[in-house]
Amino acid sequence: MSVSMLSVIRPLGGVSGLLQVASVLGLVLLLLKAAQLYLHRQWLLRAVQEFLSPPSHWLFGHRHELQKAQELQELQKRAEKYPCTSPRWLCGSRVSLIVYDPDYMKVILERSGEFLPPTHTHCGPGYGLLLLNGQMWFQHRRMLTPDFHYDILKAYVGLMADSVQVMLDKWEELLSQNSSLEIFGHFSLMTLDTLMKCAFSYQGNQQADRYSQSYLQAIQDLNNLVRPVRNVFYQKDIIYRLTTEGRWNHWACQLAHQHTDRVIKLRKAQLQEEGNLEKVRSKRHLDFLDILLFAQMENGTSFSNKDLRAEVDTFMFEGHDTTASGISWILYALATHPEHQQKCREEIQSILGDDSSITWDHLDQMPYTTMCIKEALRLYPPVPGVDRELSKPITFPDGRSLPKGFLVTLSFYALHHNLKVWPNPEVFDPSWFAPGSSRQSHAFLPFSGGSRNCIGKQFAMNEMKVVVALTPLCVELAPDPFRVPVPTPRIVLMSKNGIHLHLRKLF
Ligand code: HEM
Repeated sequence: MSVSMLSVIRPLGGVSGLLQVASVLGLVLLLLKAAQLYLHRQWLLRAVQEFLSPPSHWLFGHRHELQKAQELQELQKRAEKYPCTSPRWLCGSRVSLIVYDPDYMKVILERSGEFLPPTHTHCGPGYGLLLLNGQMWFQHRRMLTPDFHYDILKAYVGLMADSVQVMLDKWEELLSQNSSLEIFGHFSLMTLDTLMKCAFSYQGNQQADRYSQSYLQAIQDLNNLVRPVRNVFYQKDIIYRLTTEGRWNHWACQLAHQHTDRVIKLRKAQLQEEGNLEKVRSKRHLDFLDILLFAQMENGTSFSNKDLRAEVDTFMFEGHDTTASGISWILYALATHPEHQQKCREEIQSILGDDSSITWDHLDQMPYTTMCIKEALRLYPPVPGVDRELSKPITFPDGRSLPKGFLVTLSFYALHHNLKVWPNPEVFDPSWFAPGSSRQSHAFLPFSGGSRNCIGKQFAMNEMKVVVALTPLCVELAPDPFRVPVPTPRIVLMSKNGIHLHLRKLF
């Protein structure tokens, strides 16, 4: 063999040697990972041995339950068969304990300091109030709580009514078309409009704004994408970003961020205008965005632009999508129960008289409408469930326990449909919420409970009351028998095929 031939083979031998070493290393790493997953699975199996669940596949767990169109019915079947709680395997090495019993809920919600895994979206960095923890969460919660002060909320009622009126005017043109209307989209625009005026001091009309349309489309896309907690491969950002869903998610996040950036920029510019800063600073109560902007001006280093955007993102999403879901399902419930719809209409007519302008004082004078709203929130909780990771071991009232680090899903949907708590849970029965009626604590949790409950609860209740008061005054609502909505748990409770109603103009 010639010298030149040898010099070619040696490097090749070197390359193949390297390949061999790499393959052995890869195999060792793979075996180590497999051993780690196996040990983790054994640990999980020991942790849940006291809790019963339907049989599961060793690798795919109970994923088939999540993929079925009737996911919520599957959940209810579980709740009927396995009292209080039941583990759901998301894959061979990931399990979450689904909780739907009031006493179990109480034990978890009343503990402070549970870690919240960022399961809501992959819309990073996004660490606003909803996902923050520890001292940071406490500071932000304390800073933002004044935004939900009675005096501030009082001033918002008029803005809420204006947004409803804009929507009802738009409906007038559509009503003549004699077909049913998909209402979720309309309420999303309306609740975004309200939020922009109330929390972000925005003065335009969001319901005619193209930026809002693309923001809402982005939020809808994010809502429809698989929740990463359900797919073990999507837990790693690096893998998720390579998938079609991940890329779509990234694009939708960018659109959502563009919207929030624009809102922040606009408000900053308004405050910079001559004299505006001092005028706003001297107000007794500040709007949400102004609280954040002033906090940043006074405390720039500890409250970064990233923190600011994360909070704005959180409130922008939490403040409109949840409420839009709530309102849509409430009106669907009233459409399918015309006798209750009529009673609400009569109640509102009696308090408003000929004048259709609604004020803060009216909100406490509509007991029957409030009962219907609460009953619809029971049947259709806008946030169907939330996840928690246990920061320390927990023992439930019946003595069963779970170790630190375990994943728990608080299913508000299954709690609200739990036969043992609500006899005939599928029947729409507002009398559950009649003044003076009592029920087990932690049996009704549309806004969650404990220290991490919804900060916007009162804002949301007010908005829902304003919409449910004004809408049936103008239109009669009836269901579309050919398009019955299919409740589907996403980040909020949506309907697979939209929520279609027939609307008939009354006056
Ligand atoms: C019908 C409407 C609403 C429902 C059903 C609802 C429900 C909830 C629930 C269940 C949680 C707990 C989430 C968790 O623990 O992971 C929550 C938290 C939160 N909500 Fe709402 N929400 C509504 C409206 C609003 C509104 C209008 C705002 C703001 C204007 C808002 C802002 C928030 C924030 C910032 C949190 C996180 C609170 C914290 O962790 O300290 N929500 N909401």
